[in-house]
Amino acid sequence: MNSLSKTLAIAGFVATAVALPASTAPAAGSKNCEELIFKVSATAQNREILVQPDVSNFNSFVEFLTQNVSYTQISGSEKIVARYCRPTIVNIQASQQSKTLQLLVHGNTYDKHYWSGLGFEDYNYEACANSLGYPTLAIDRPGNGQSTRPNGATHVQAPYQVELIHKLIQSLRGPGIVLPGAPQTAVAPFERVVWVGHSYGSIIGNQLAAKYPADVDAYVLMGIAIPKPTDFALPGQWEMGFQPASEYDPVRFPYTDKTYFVTSSKAGRMATFYSDPAAPDFDAAVYDADFATMGTITAGEALTQTLAVADRFAGPVFVLTGQEDATFCGNGKREPVLPDCLSGSESRLAKVHDLFPQSSFFDFFAQPDAGHCHGTHYTAQQGFEATSDFLARAFSSAVSA
Ligand SMILES: *[C@@H]1O[C@H](CO)[C@@H](O)[C@H](O)[C@H]1NC(C)=O
Repeated sequence: MNSLSKTLAIAGFVATAVALPASTAPAAGSKNCEELIFKVSATAQNREILVQPDVSNFNSFVEFLTQNVSYTQISGSEKIVARYCRPTIVNIQASQQSKTLQLLVHGNTYDKHYWSGLGFEDYNYEACANSLGYPTLAIDRPGNGQSTRPNGATHVQAPYQVELIHKLIQSLRGPGIVLPGAPQTAVAPFERVVWVGHSYGSIIGNQLAAKYPADVDAYVLMGIAIPKPTDFALPGQWEMGFQPASEYDPVRFPYTDKTYFVTSSKAGRMATFYSDPAAPDFDAAVYDADFATMGTITAGEALTQTLAVADRFAGPVFVLTGQEDATFCGNGKREPVLPDCLSGSESRLAKVHDLFPQSSFFDFFAQPDAGHCHGTHYTAQQGFEATSDFLARAFSSAVSA
């Protein structure tokens, strides 16, 4: 058998392409996963910072978020750390899946470990996909996790992340690299790439679909919906207690950059991201781990959360969030009443179709008894099953078409 280092062949690598997996250290806790590091350069039209971010009071932060819109070109070269996991079954039934890479893109204040259930097996989406025959690549978005941390205001914004991940996808699809576990004879290691995003990872996916509609074959957008005009999440979210990460915990976040923020309030973060603790809808130990391992959100990420109409994307789109997602279906926290993403004549989930008017196949699922981070609630498996059912339907129609 080939050793892993031998399977990391690099063929036809050219300067315009992104990169190579540069590290092959096995990821802790899983025999079929390894860490990959991609070196990616990109140029983007980011928002110009005319008003400096200030989280010391609500009104200053609102001034930052609502500042005049102008754009400026930025460039950079980043390291994107990712965890690649092979399918854990390979058989005839799963042969289509084995050629379909699920690219897992986490939300704000998380990293790639969101997808492995923060260490809790019952919430391990990655292992679930692998057990159905799908390979997965869970990335730390630039500015998050172990990836590089350029300036959190000027650089770590959605447009730059879109350009960097676009380059990453080009390298995954092109002849440039062969990932471990991919058929060695294949020119491109994967026939399909499915974007699986959560929250900000879904927003970035939507922006990618608008700008580069050919990049991925299908979108699974989790932790997202279209708020109604009466929803106003920011005041509730503000109670999460945004604070420069290095002031909150200089040991965990030894950053000089004060534009990387954490959510310092344990109760506030729970009220925004989780559903009912009294019912209860989730395991308190999971939330403890969530809070203890939380990552950051940058000022630039907060400034660039816009959704776009991706009217040139013609593939399947699946939308999934917790039915009680306070971030997209309410006032940013679960009090005083649990929000309901399905309320009203057209649900906020169904409304995401407006962003993908040409999609070949659109469906949505409101995961019951779950909040914004539905993947770490007791009902998580229902969401995983709805997702795999959708992908099976989407690809069986693609095959027979
Ligand atoms: C925003 O634009 C308006 C209209 O052009 C201008 O009057 C105002 O000074 C600008 N504000 C800032 C902070 O640049």
